[in-house]
Amino acid sequence: MKTRPLIISPSILASDFSKLGDEVIAADKGGADWIHIDVMDGHFVPNITFGAPVMQSIRKCTTKPFDVHLMISPADPYLAQFAAAGADLISVHAEAGPHLDRSLQAIKALGNKAGVAINPATPLSVIEHVIDRLDLILIMTVNPGFGGQTFIPAMLDKIRAAKALVGGRNIDIEVDGGVTAENAGAIYRAGANAMVAGSSIFKGNDYAANIKALRVAATSISA
Ligand code: DX5
Ligand code: ZN
Repeated sequence: MKTRPLIISPSILASDFSKLGDEVIAADKGGADWIHIDVMDGHFVPNITFGAPVMQSIRKCTTKPFDVHLMISPADPYLAQFAAAGADLISVHAEAGPHLDRSLQAIKALGNKAGVAINPATPLSVIEHVIDRLDLILIMTVNPGFGGQTFIPAMLDKIRAAKALVGGRNIDIEVDGGVTAENAGAIYRAGANAMVAGSSIFKGNDYAANIKALRVAATSISA
């Protein structure tokens, strides 16, 4: 099976919002593959971040794909807004609405790539019957709502199971939450090829070094 390229997707949730545009530019120049956009509604998750207008305002700062993680319920009424504001890939939570298949069809109809995010307690089987609509599976390795939480090690088994479920399909497996240079190797070896990282990238003043450390840790063959 062909190895998929490693993708590092810095989460701007951990950036300095007072200079968001500059932070996006710094992540881009530092070697980000995608930019991860965490949208929270204070209802599906116990925190509020920002919506499509803020995302649109930083669209001009980078040409890198916007990897939009919608932690909102319902999601369907807002999909068109996020697509119009410059999303490239939109992930909805499997737990956020009753009609996941419909949400995925709507994302594709807007010309975006489609992803499903699943919370730590949600079984992988929720995506079994929609898998052929997916471009990405987003495995939450913390309970969504906040940056800076600790990676839940039991999720490594879920990553392995996702990899087996995906088989030869053209689907990225992304992890989100608590990703650091210490666990990136285990995550990559379990089968994830896309990594969201907030606090381990937006720290100090050398984001390029932080991104590189994740890349090296993920792909180094030592344990
Ligand atoms: C959590 C968000 C994550 C978060 C990751 O609900 O979906 O994307 O920003 O932050 P870190 O890398 O700090 O765990
Ligand atoms: Zn996220």
